[in-house]
Amino acid sequence: MRIGVIGCGAIGSVIMNAISRGELKAELVGLMDIYPEKCEGLLRDFVAKNEVLVCRDLEEFLKARPQLVVEAASQQAVRDYVPKILNEGIDVVLLSVGALLDEGLYNEVVEAAKRGNAKVYIPTGAIAGIDAIKALKPLGIKRVVLRSYKNVKAFDREVLRRLGFSEVKETTKIFEGEGTVAVKLFPANVNVVATLALASGKIPWVEIYADPKYDKNVHEIEVEGEVSRICVRVENVPHPDNPRTSYLAPLSVVRLIKQLTEGSGLVIGT
Ligand SMILES: NC(=O)c1ccc[n+]([C@@H]2O[C@H](COP(=O)([O-])OP(=O)(O)OC[C@H]3O[C@@H](n4cnc5c(N)ncnc54)[C@H](O)[C@@H]3O)[C@@H](O)[C@H]2O)c1
Repeated sequence: MRIGVIGCGAIGSVIMNAISRGELKAELVGLMDIYPEKCEGLLRDFVAKNEVLVCRDLEEFLKARPQLVVEAASQQAVRDYVPKILNEGIDVVLLSVGALLDEGLYNEVVEAAKRGNAKVYIPTGAIAGIDAIKALKPLGIKRVVLRSYKNVKAFDREVLRRLGFSEVKETTKIFEGEGTVAVKLFPANVNVVATLALASGKIPWVEIYADPKYDKNVHEIEVEGEVSRICVRVENVPHPDNPRTSYLAPLSVVRLIKQLTEGSGLVIGT
């Protein structure tokens, strides 16, 4: 499968590494970043069997003829590129899921996928349990709660100051409320909230805790469905290049691409 990657940061680098090591049976054909030098930097360590096009704009990127594009850039990148890519009939793995909480953009993406007969894949990312949440949804989900615990450095100092937490020296609950409010105040949490909301059809109730001693990004998820109650706790090591991104997130993308590229008779999990 011919793969193009938008965003040569923490997630993009793990995907390229998996292709380079032969873990993924895929051919990297194009890279795009607002800073093309970042792509060049990643390519220096990349063992390429073919030419990889480094692009500044979408038109050039599409000339690489990817069959699957991984968006690992930003919400703006989703707005600017994803509907156009889907219109061309190219499938997309979308990481900046928070963008889909904007109803207008969500509809635009769904329509473009339909028009282009293309698919949008949203990986489970930095959490777990999306399989069970999807299975429970038809019988009804009453409540979804997300508790996130991160080092205080993961949060915008100005936002913390406005909320009255200028100095956080021990475990402190810095937010409790609706997911829609949480994502505006704390964009670093936006993807997990959005993935849970899309899978369950419910906006999660969110609690966020900060502590200068935390060395992991921890997410606790509680889901109350009609026939099951689910509690999931994920303790993630942050990616060394971007402490806001859990290492599990790119691993989840690698797993998804493996599923898409290696058909096997045995399918585990939903
Ligand atoms: N779904 C999940 O579970 C999950 C988990 C972690 C991160 N994310 C999201 O995935 C995305 C990538 O994460 P990351 O940790 O690799 O980030 P990063 O900051 O390490 O890398 C992002 C790269 O994208 C580039 N970029 C930004 N906007 C762009 C644009 N409009 N066009 C082209 N390039 C652009 C940047 O220059 C940077 O090189 C972010 O939006 C992040 O919020 C999702």
